[in-house]
Amino acid sequence: MFRNVAAIFSHLAGPLQGKKAGASSLAGCLHQTVAMAKQLQARRLDGLDKNPWVEFIKLASENETVNLGQGFPDFAPPDFAMEAFQHAVSGDFMLNQYTKAFGYPPLTKVLADFFGKLLGQEMEPLKNVLVTVGAYGALFTAFQALVDEGDEVIIIEPYFDCYEPMTLMAGGRPVFVPLKPSPSQDGELDYSSNWQLDPTELANKFTSRTKALVLNTPSNPLGKVFSKAELELVASLCQQHDVVCISDEVYQWLVFDGNQHISIASLPGMWERTLTIGSAGKTFSATGWKVGWVLGPDQLMKHLRTVHQNSIFHCPTQAQAAVAWSFEREQQHFGQPSSYFVQLLQATQHKRDHVTRSLQSVGLRPVIPQGSYFLITDISDFKSKMPNLPGAEDEAYDRRFVKWMIKNKGLSAIPVSIFYSVPHQKHFDHYVRFCFIKVKCRAGGGKVSSSSSRSSGKKGSTELC
Ligand SMILES: Cc1ncc(COP(=O)(O)O)c(C=O)c1O
Repeated sequence: MFRNVAAIFSHLAGPLQGKKAGASSLAGCLHQTVAMAKQLQARRLDGLDKNPWVEFIKLASENETVNLGQGFPDFAPPDFAMEAFQHAVSGDFMLNQYTKAFGYPPLTKVLADFFGKLLGQEMEPLKNVLVTVGAYGALFTAFQALVDEGDEVIIIEPYFDCYEPMTLMAGGRPVFVPLKPSPSQDGELDYSSNWQLDPTELANKFTSRTKALVLNTPSNPLGKVFSKAELELVASLCQQHDVVCISDEVYQWLVFDGNQHISIASLPGMWERTLTIGSAGKTFSATGWKVGWVLGPDQLMKHLRTVHQNSIFHCPTQAQAAVAWSFEREQQHFGQPSSYFVQLLQATQHKRDHVTRSLQSVGLRPVIPQGSYFLITDISDFKSKMPNLPGAEDEAYDRRFVKWMIKNKGLSAIPVSIFYSVPHQKHFDHYVRFCFIKVKCRAGGGKVSSSSSRSSGKKGSTELC
């Protein structure tokens, strides 16, 4: 298979080849259907049963692909985090038991200290921090706690796709506002910062029913880092219309080229109305640990605690302990060359640059991200050269393109139209998203560092997909 991303993309540039999909071995399954007169599923699930991720992840795993689709590292977390986890598992046997429902005390304490300084807030571990099952759990708890039947939730497109079903499952109505790309001149590079909100359009989305706005910076899939001026615009509209901001900042340590991550909660008047969400999975390259958190003022957090208490109740203690010790270590090195956040950022920026060059070398136009570990690339040229890729007639071009690429080029990505609401998908069907955190995205990607060599290998990762 491919040793590095340059090889993958040069293969992509070649003519159409006849690489065949591996045969599925699902034959022979028998299904029994339970006959019930009542509708089985709750109405809140109406329209949500088809998830494009399932289709694309399945397709990637059925074919022998280089997986630059799903967003997780294919290397080990840093040594100190691995050791922390091992210590949590083999040390104090009480770490096998429940801890405090809202978070393991050393973890809520270090999160309160660490982020209290960054946000300029005195934070109380018990009141301002909630530990959740990953950032997914944090988002779900926030939507369930705050969004009511008929409430409107403003979502900025393209968006991390779960925001929409989470709004719907809470009974809310998603209201979409797209970032608008400004056209670049021929030969000029595209940057995620060229995708901007239209201030009038955004303002017009706020109504008396607007309950929340979801912000994601750095964003997935675009890699946009919202500027201070953009955040001030969002903040002033939230304050004017008495709206809560759910701020998903899971990629906050991955901000490139000297740009700055700004938490909207740190702007004047925003702490009181913001929930700031983070992920240990993204922070310490350990997505399988599924430890996340929400930070916010007690008057919002108490409702999240009610949801948490009556649903998940508690997150695994050992994983929380490992995250607590990892943060304590990071706190001592913060801002120094020895900081994992600094090292991960440098390594990821190199990968971004390498993937960008590789894409450009095959005639694609990547939108260079300022942050996160994703980038989207414009496939319009492919669309004009190969408009008739196989697929259903009404299937978006980017979906057909990704399926073609998986089957014929052994490379998987994610079509960007799935990060848009249905009415807007047809306008954004000429981009695909690549995840460039993978080891293969380094120049000479076959070589791995001492910590990444401990990864159980690509096979394990593929199986997890
Ligand atoms: C923007 C964003 N938010 C939240 C999550 C979920 O994070 P976690 O794995 O901690 O649940 C992801 C994962 O890809 C993400 O990209």
